[in-house]
Amino acid sequence: MKHITYNDMTHVFTLHTKNSMYQMQVRDYNTLVHLYYGPNIGDTEVSYRIICLDRGFSGNPYEAGADRTFSLDILPQEYSGYGNGDYRINALEVTHEDGSDAVHLIYKSSRMMEGKYSLTGLPCMFGSKDEAETLEITLYDKITNLHVHLLYAVFYDLDVITRAVRLENLGDKKVTIQRAMSMEMDYATSHMDMIHFHGRHMMERQFERQPLHHGVQSVESKRGMSSHQHNPFVILCRKTTTEQHGDCYGYALAYSGNYRCEIELDQMEQTRLVMGIHPYHFAFPLEKGDVFETPEVIMAYSGKGLGRLSHIYHDAYRSNLIRSKYVYAPRPILINNWEATYFNFDEEKLFNIAKEAKELGLDMFVLDDGWFGKRDTDYSGLGDWIVNENKIKGGLPDLVKRIKSLGLKFGIWIEPEMVSEDSDLYREHPDWVLRIPQRDVSRGRHQLNLDVTRKEVRSHVMQQIFAVLDSCDIDYVKWDMNRSVGNVYSAALPSDRQGEVYHRYVLGVYEMMEQLLTRYPNLLFENCSGGGGRFDAGMLYYSPQIWCSDNSDAIDRLKIQYGTSFGYPPSTMGAHVSICPNHQTGRTTPFETRAIVASAGTFGYELDLALLTKEEKEFARKQIADYKKIEHLVQTGDYYRLSSPYKNHDYVLWQFVSKDKKETVVRGVQLRNEANPHIHLIYLEGLEPAAHYKEETSGQVYTGAALMKAGIPLPVGAGDYQPIHFMFRMV
Ligand code: GLA
Repeated sequence: MKHITYNDMTHVFTLHTKNSMYQMQVRDYNTLVHLYYGPNIGDTEVSYRIICLDRGFSGNPYEAGADRTFSLDILPQEYSGYGNGDYRINALEVTHEDGSDAVHLIYKSSRMMEGKYSLTGLPCMFGSKDEAETLEITLYDKITNLHVHLLYAVFYDLDVITRAVRLENLGDKKVTIQRAMSMEMDYATSHMDMIHFHGRHMMERQFERQPLHHGVQSVESKRGMSSHQHNPFVILCRKTTTEQHGDCYGYALAYSGNYRCEIELDQMEQTRLVMGIHPYHFAFPLEKGDVFETPEVIMAYSGKGLGRLSHIYHDAYRSNLIRSKYVYAPRPILINNWEATYFNFDEEKLFNIAKEAKELGLDMFVLDDGWFGKRDTDYSGLGDWIVNENKIKGGLPDLVKRIKSLGLKFGIWIEPEMVSEDSDLYREHPDWVLRIPQRDVSRGRHQLNLDVTRKEVRSHVMQQIFAVLDSCDIDYVKWDMNRSVGNVYSAALPSDRQGEVYHRYVLGVYEMMEQLLTRYPNLLFENCSGGGGRFDAGMLYYSPQIWCSDNSDAIDRLKIQYGTSFGYPPSTMGAHVSICPNHQTGRTTPFETRAIVASAGTFGYELDLALLTKEEKEFARKQIADYKKIEHLVQTGDYYRLSSPYKNHDYVLWQFVSKDKKETVVRGVQLRNEANPHIHLIYLEGLEPAAHYKEETSGQVYTGAALMKAGIPLPVGAGDYQPIHFMFRMV
């Protein structure tokens, strides 16, 4: 292998990406010890960093005999067991038939393969033999013969290493997995900051950075979805790391269900991070011969600050995670009728919106919630995926044909995982929902989760949806999920297997999405969960875009899109222009500003176009033409956060630069104006210092060096919430 090596004298495994290096070693008593993850330092082996001392209250394994310096409680490990003297947070925990729960993992073997390993039924990065190499290290527990295959894939050019774990019960007795993290990372150092993205419905992925404290800190979801509340993407960085400088490490879990990332700063000032499926309500029995695979963690290291770390993720996701053929293609600029009509529409109202859309130059009409069953409010109808002909007279095929005859594409909203109690589906199959025996259900948006762990439930729902999609020519589907998973109990599983339900729910969702994409390979697929409740790397494997938030307010979106951009490419963020006063915040912002903010993602509109003034319509035409000019930068360029909405209360700015550095667009919002204002200089990034760049509006020419080092003044604003826009081309 070119980028994975094993030294059979020192028993050291080294993984290289272009700018990072990862190292581990098989040491005394066949313990797999983690040595290093950080900047690429060539062929050096760093096992010398480990110094073993006799530590009080940190025990020694039996096989160490009289050696009191060897302790699993202190040593950095690749994948730690349980009940073996390591008292820190751990990676694996299993229970055995005799009631014991210890597991002690030792090295057994390894193998290397060209190309990327794959996982069954789980999203993960893909890579040909020219792009990726795989290392599989097998550890095992002697007593039970449980085998633990640690999977590593090295994407040299992308600067990414992925990890997952395959557990295989090769013993005679059942073992039950209580916790199987996808990875563990033991740093020899402390004094790092943790960056994570918390939030709530309509205010997702808020940036927070704080120093690690001693003890355990964590982010997690127990909602059966990756959640609005905490995103499964975490960064560790040095205290001095900024956007442009310093070491940082990203950990992204490609999974859309319950998860936990725990970080412990231990007694020896060492840092351990584990990430994977949340152990909460999780118990997965493995009978003899059974295999369990964990989801994948996508890791990246940057020595050039957080900006570079984001570029690594953006590039890697676009090239080797998102499978959609639309990933680099211009996406249709859409009009979605949700904020325009909510449930109150008929076919004429929809057609009129579509007509206006065509006149303004949009590409696609999306029919949102309310077109099916008895869906006049959100109290009924989910589960009955049959068009409501009271609202859409003449049926869906007719409406689709009419709208497509205007020259627009057509998209539709679905929410396949859910059912309303007031629906034919529920009346017929009340046992098809997740429900705890004898207890009343808890509702969310007055709806229940279908038990999609069951094949018959999945196939019934998908058959209904396929019938709709087969009946007319539909180009796009928005897949929504509007409540947390609750009432977690499946009537189809025995009492001792209820700990599988949360995970099987997610596997069920992935299987349904896979069915949809296999049957309609040309479909443009957008994920959504009350906006951005399932904005995760797992979902990006299925869809190239995700509705970023139910909050369409341009000013709140500055923070939401800023936070999202750390781990996810802007081209994946659904962003629409909506009406003012904004429906979520009551705030009024200029029409132009709303378009500037929406143009930092996959652009669209979400309002009744017929209600726009003549002047606004003119603006909209301009905005659409203008987005088409910068769209390729959003799709494929490098994205820079020029300022933070948390630190700078005067303006928020971002920049896209084409990969060849010939074009760049700088956009943002001036948040507030002041009397007798001072001049703000802004500094661009990512340009060719010696090249000349001409600004489109003023015609002024600057060198790249001047734009990056001397800066340019922001226009002196006229009021609050004003749009900022510069476009430069190399001359
Ligand atoms: C969710 C979505 C919205 C809209 C509604 C419809 O909240 O995020 O965009 O589709 O559902 O009920």
